Amino acid sequence: MKFGGVRFVPGFYVLLLVSTVALMAGETAHLSIDATKAGAKIDRNLFGQFAENLGHGLYEGIWVGPDSPIPNTRGIRNDVVTALRALQVPNVRWPGGCFGDEYHWRKGVGPAGQRPATLNSSWGGVVDDNSFGTEEFMDFIQQIGSQAYVSINVGSGSPQEAAEWLEYMTAAKPTAMAKERAANGHPDPYRVGFLGIGNESWGCGGNMTPEYYLSQLKIYSHFARNDNPSQHGANQMLKIAVGPGTPETEWTETIMKAWQHHDWSWNIDGLSLHWYTVANGWPPSTPSTGFGVQDYGKTLKSTLFMDEFLRKHESVMDEYDPQKKVALVVDEWGVWHAALHGTNPAFLFQQNSLRDAILASLNLNIFARHADRVRMANIAQMINVLQAMILTDKDKMVLTPTYYAYRMYVPFQDATFVPVVLDAGTYMQGGESLPRVDALAARDASGKLWLEITNLDPEQPIDLDADIAGMTAKSAKGKTLTAPAVDSVNTFESPNAVVPKPVSASVKGGRLALTLAPKSVTVVSMEP
Ligand code: AHR
Repeated sequence: MKFGGVRFVPGFYVLLLVSTVALMAGETAHLSIDATKAGAKIDRNLFGQFAENLGHGLYEGIWVGPDSPIPNTRGIRNDVVTALRALQVPNVRWPGGCFGDEYHWRKGVGPAGQRPATLNSSWGGVVDDNSFGTEEFMDFIQQIGSQAYVSINVGSGSPQEAAEWLEYMTAAKPTAMAKERAANGHPDPYRVGFLGIGNESWGCGGNMTPEYYLSQLKIYSHFARNDNPSQHGANQMLKIAVGPGTPETEWTETIMKAWQHHDWSWNIDGLSLHWYTVANGWPPSTPSTGFGVQDYGKTLKSTLFMDEFLRKHESVMDEYDPQKKVALVVDEWGVWHAALHGTNPAFLFQQNSLRDAILASLNLNIFARHADRVRMANIAQMINVLQAMILTDKDKMVLTPTYYAYRMYVPFQDATFVPVVLDAGTYMQGGESLPRVDALAARDASGKLWLEITNLDPEQPIDLDADIAGMTAKSAKGKTLTAPAVDSVNTFESPNAVVPKPVSASVKGGRLALTLAPKSVTVVSMEP
């Protein structure tokens, strides 16, 4: 399997021009699109998620157990499954994160009640009864209609342990591992779409040098085999190496230089990259509620660094892999705020506001503009941890503004990038200049044109005038996500404070016109 079946699409790539002239309030922003100009495919795997065994991400967020009064299917919450199905989540990374390099899979298989209790040393030293293990994760993946992205333990595991886990999950022939899986309720082999070979091996994954990690990568990439017959050939499992977590390029250089001369005995399909938005530096201190436009502007300014970060590493990858065979996989990204007051700081629980949804849209647009190299990404994290889609409290569930942004982006999955020329100016916030507008356009398989426009300006609405060439758009319809304040949130008591609402858009004579509310994410579709 290739990442989305596209290795490299030459031609139109980045064509987003942002004027440096500040627009006055009430002025019109101009945008033009030639719908015949196709760039790379926006791989659906860019909309992947990360579900680590951390805090209440898995336990309570996904897993309540079959005996819970909370409605569930084989222990997995029904409300969460229904919500996630609507996002068409392409892949879920599990079990870590830092936790992945302390996870020993054998402790999480076998009859319920007979699994050993272990400590989650990475995240708060809490006791884990291992009731959520391989079978439960695969069941969850199947229930939400996604693909498994499994990270294997390189830090404290062994090649044998990893090889046996892969055999347990994927062998179809009657080996001891396959029989054990069958005895545990799953005779058919599982599909493992993606394999992460370690996590942050330069830090929590073993504090390795790039050279030491490279030697491990070669061994694990050879021995961790996928034996599922349906994954031989076109649908093969993609192997993803640990990549950098800073703009320094030494790690990328070491892995890619070696990869250039790799032989049959080892290979990778992706190199991971981790980058969080931490607006005031470590430890994360920005509040996730009760902030104003100043904090808002600072956080958005900080998140826009993602573009430069990708460029730095892409330029090294281009040197050793000009054909872009190895994907850049941003398998941890998102905004990391201070833990919500009164919660366990090790559980990384934060609220999620309109600001975070806008931040998500800016990052998704950046990924799409890099789609010829960036073919997979995983927001951190899915439920109750960091920039979550969903928050839960016992039987209650609330969908966050970031969830709604993701739902609005579903049509961009596997659509073809269309370059946008944008003249929208800047706005100033606390001495910092930010783009007023960001935009992404794409055509889906049916020929429909999709346009996403983010108005970053927290105060001014913008009239958008878009010139659409290359197709005769008959009609336009759209939705917008905004709220009264930049820190508006959805709560269990008030779950619909930030939800998408229809927006009126008119299309006539090849021009699209609509008004963008301040601080909003808008998606419009145009029928040919
Ligand atoms: O997402 C939380 C943590 O951030 C992950 O466990 C780790 O990989 C990263 O440092």
